[in-house]
Amino acid sequence: MIAVDLEHAADFDGWRSAARRLAMAGVAPSDVQWRTPGGLRDLFAAEAVMPDVSENGGELRVSRRFVDLAERVVCHRDEERFALLYRMLLRLQEQPKLLELVTDDDVFRAENMAKAVRRERHKMTAFVRFREVATEDGPAFVAWFEPEHHVVRLTAPFFVDRFAAMRWSILTPELCVHWDRQALSFTPGATRDLAPDDDRLEEHWRTYYAHIFNPARLKIAAMKREMPMRYWKNLPESSAIPGLIQSASRASEGMIAAPALVAAKRSAKILKQVEAARPSAPHVGGLEGLRQEAAGCKRCPLWSNATQTVFGEGEANAELLFVGEQPGDKEDLAGRPFVGPAGQLFDRALADAGIDRTAAYVTNSVKHFKNEPRGKRRIHKSPNVSEINACRWWIEQEAALLKPKLTIAMGATAIRSLTGESHSVLKTRGQVLASPFLGDVFVTVHPSFLLRLQDEADKRREYEAFVADLSEVRRLVYG
Ligand code: URA
Repeated sequence: MIAVDLEHAADFDGWRSAARRLAMAGVAPSDVQWRTPGGLRDLFAAEAVMPDVSENGGELRVSRRFVDLAERVVCHRDEERFALLYRMLLRLQEQPKLLELVTDDDVFRAENMAKAVRRERHKMTAFVRFREVATEDGPAFVAWFEPEHHVVRLTAPFFVDRFAAMRWSILTPELCVHWDRQALSFTPGATRDLAPDDDRLEEHWRTYYAHIFNPARLKIAAMKREMPMRYWKNLPESSAIPGLIQSASRASEGMIAAPALVAAKRSAKILKQVEAARPSAPHVGGLEGLRQEAAGCKRCPLWSNATQTVFGEGEANAELLFVGEQPGDKEDLAGRPFVGPAGQLFDRALADAGIDRTAAYVTNSVKHFKNEPRGKRRIHKSPNVSEINACRWWIEQEAALLKPKLTIAMGATAIRSLTGESHSVLKTRGQVLASPFLGDVFVTVHPSFLLRLQDEADKRREYEAFVADLSEVRRLVYG
């Protein structure tokens, strides 16, 4: 039996390097014991020297998809996670298409674990609330969170992106993470009483939450599912929920009757609330500096499969900011957004709605073309939530520099990117949603949706509806 001692509970690098050596030396899964600090240990396991495989020269087959899966699975609380991944790694050498067998026990289990981890990571990004504390070096921000899985290391970069200019700590029972504006550090777990309980930020959160609270979306069961009760106690805004629920039905009746313009005025108030959430220091190099920096973006793995970053383009003082999903094949090659078939349709609809594209700014939620090579073709693949989140930093910066009067989310990816939430396009179309980092977000369909329609009558009807949405945009901004 070979015992492998990993450095921490989610030590992907340690697992990968040990697994590689063990696999190349032909060590069977049943002969390896994976151990983590604080995990259950088999006291009878014999310690054995790691096999030296430097002379072996063999090749291991590991797809990017498996690596992505494994990076999530190692964060699961299941004691068997490392053993499961090692077994799958060996099986993949014989069965390269193993991951496609969704009914396979190992694959099924690993996918479920990855899903649970993704969900927990999302909860951490959504439910961590910082409270201000005074320190000798000035204010710092502290939050308490109790994750179900080992997601602290995985999620820390999200908070670095969001709160790069603050000093903050997130305390959890197993592991604490700290950011000093330059580097991340990790310390052992803490207890709840170390995190301050109340401060002036609480009131701010409550006000903010009350303003972004949309009574039309109130679904108590869904709220409980998305925000399990165990998180509620950490959320200052949760005390506002009962009052908001009470007034919700009255307010939603009002909203149903309210035309889009009224909704826009309502969310103009929100604009003031969220103004403070915009990046405080827009990029010193302006849009051009930002574009140059984005050219080297590696915030997510999509850069590796694309020709170049496709940054936004348009007027620096544009009042309208149009946001699509991601560049397509043509945009990837040209390095410019919306120049392919969807772009041509978009141009035509803008012209029909009386909007001058050259006076607007057009960009994408994700700046690299996500695709899967198939023969000579590259097939478009929709970006996932972590890619959308990773790329949001650029949109935040673009928005902070542009300060548009109205942002138009074209399609579900743009809604997700701009509001941080997922909404059905068809249900929110024509509405104005609030974004935590810019003002009003008007929802419409993505031009590619029109390109996919087969029936001529459908195409005509949907094109007219798209032009009607864009005409409403023009009316909201230019009167
Ligand atoms: N689809 C998009 O969302 N963006 C583009 O730039 C092209 C097609």
